[in-house]
Amino acid sequence: MADKDDLKEGKNFHTHVPQTNKPFFLKGAGSLDWGMQNRLSQIFNPITGRTVMLAFDHGYFQGPTTGIERIDISIAPLIPYADVLMCTRGALRTVIPSDTKKPIVLRCSGGQSILKELSNETIAVDIEDTLRLNASAMAAQVYIGAEYEHKSISNIVKLIDTGLRYGIPTLAVTGVGAEMDRDLRYFSLATRMCAEIGAHYIKSYYFEPGFEKVVAACPVPIVIAGGKKLSEIDALEMAYKAIDQGAAGVDMGRNIFQSDHPIAMIQAVNAVVHKNEGFKQAFQLYEEIRARSATIN
Ligand code: R5P
Repeated sequence: MADKDDLKEGKNFHTHVPQTNKPFFLKGAGSLDWGMQNRLSQIFNPITGRTVMLAFDHGYFQGPTTGIERIDISIAPLIPYADVLMCTRGALRTVIPSDTKKPIVLRCSGGQSILKELSNETIAVDIEDTLRLNASAMAAQVYIGAEYEHKSISNIVKLIDTGLRYGIPTLAVTGVGAEMDRDLRYFSLATRMCAEIGAHYIKSYYFEPGFEKVVAACPVPIVIAGGKKLSEIDALEMAYKAIDQGAAGVDMGRNIFQSDHPIAMIQAVNAVVHKNEGFKQAFQLYEEIRARSATIN
């Protein structure tokens, strides 16, 4: 029971010191509620404003992808070096240790396979399960210009609306159909639409020329997907150019887990994203870490 006899009057009111009202660091997120901002600051480093998301959700539509046939073996050693884990609830529950401190961005769309039309997705996770899993954000594909464009937009609208109810941000992933040109016109349309619909951040692909214009015209942060496996130096150069042109980080999968040395690669990507390292220096770091681990083994 509280000891009422020992109540003392407060003295330190600092009446001449105005309360600080620190603006939130993330682009376009200044007017969000505390829970949203808190979750976004788990995803984006408040010091650099950027993130290294490790994406290994590919199995939700293409099965055991090269490099993540066994997530427990290939992804677990990378977890300490990632800022965020992006995966399905199946992977999370079965192979990701629940004592991880890394924020989770949950793949919340699905319902199609690589054997069929990719844009024909549905919402594949209920908000209650997102909350049970303590996810920091939900993610779904938006297929602008594809056969099921409208359906994929409806999915993201529903996720955004439910997420707003519970303080969970939504990541819109621009899914590019095979027949679309990966150019300024397409990505400025797709990313801007996703932001105006209310997504809290957007995953796009890097392209040139004009990526910086897409970033400028998008009122929320853009992170880039890695896409198909490139040589390590080419992937680092792509990450470098994207960051240099305003991307707020990467959501990278194959170029990390299919690398010859995934642990070295994710650290090199981290140096580009958080330390503004040039891609050649980052590649040198990759080679050094790789050489060091070869000596140890
Ligand atoms: C694709 O649909 C998934 O969202 C992947 O997470 C995304 O494409 C990033 O992976 P990657 O860097 O391998 O393209």
